[in-house]
Amino acid sequence: MPRPYVACGSVVDKALQAAMNEIRRYIAGSSTPEDPAHADNTLHWLLKLKPDAGPALQLAALGHDIDRASPDKVQRRDFSDYDAFKAAHARHGAAILAELLCCHGLPDALVQQCCDLVRQHETGGTAEADVLRDADSLSYFDTNLPLYLQREGEQEALRRSLWGLQRLSPGALALLGSWQHKDPAAAAIIEEALVRHRRQANGTEESANTTQ
Ligand SMILES: [Fe+2]
Repeated sequence: MPRPYVACGSVVDKALQAAMNEIRRYIAGSSTPEDPAHADNTLHWLLKLKPDAGPALQLAALGHDIDRASPDKVQRRDFSDYDAFKAAHARHGAAILAELLCCHGLPDALVQQCCDLVRQHETGGTAEADVLRDADSLSYFDTNLPLYLQREGEQEALRRSLWGLQRLSPGALALLGSWQHKDPAAAAIIEEALVRHRRQANGTEESANTTQ
């Protein structure tokens, strides 16, 4: 897996590399097997969508789901409302990152910007948060979907994929539509989800809900 941020020797660059490595170590402890690959793959998609992404956005892409690797991660079963669950997941991730990053000597403004982005990664709301949300969603299809499909089954994978499509910007949606997944089963789910998403957009099918 590539390591996109390239250090050039300054104190901040070294601190960034150390922070990225610590985020990777933390996420490596997740009980969800796709989480480590998803972190780096979200960073990969971020740099495809925005090659000039700054360090705060890169750190946020790598660490946006750090809550899921936490021993006291936010649990879906504790929320009746899915959006409230996702908001709590984002807030908890931002709090974990604030604590983790404060030990690396990074500028306060950079840490604050990174944590703000993680807090917004499910909803977007700014140009940078929107591109982070797109990168996260594209990475779900790229990296998470094959394992999610094996674990949860076709029906749930399709429902989760429809939810993911609804988060994508028009540009990212077009990118996904032009791209063929190398896993045939995942490719079939994406194709079916895109068909249903177009029907929903035309008002001929009800919107999907997700339970995870
Ligand atoms: Fe994610």
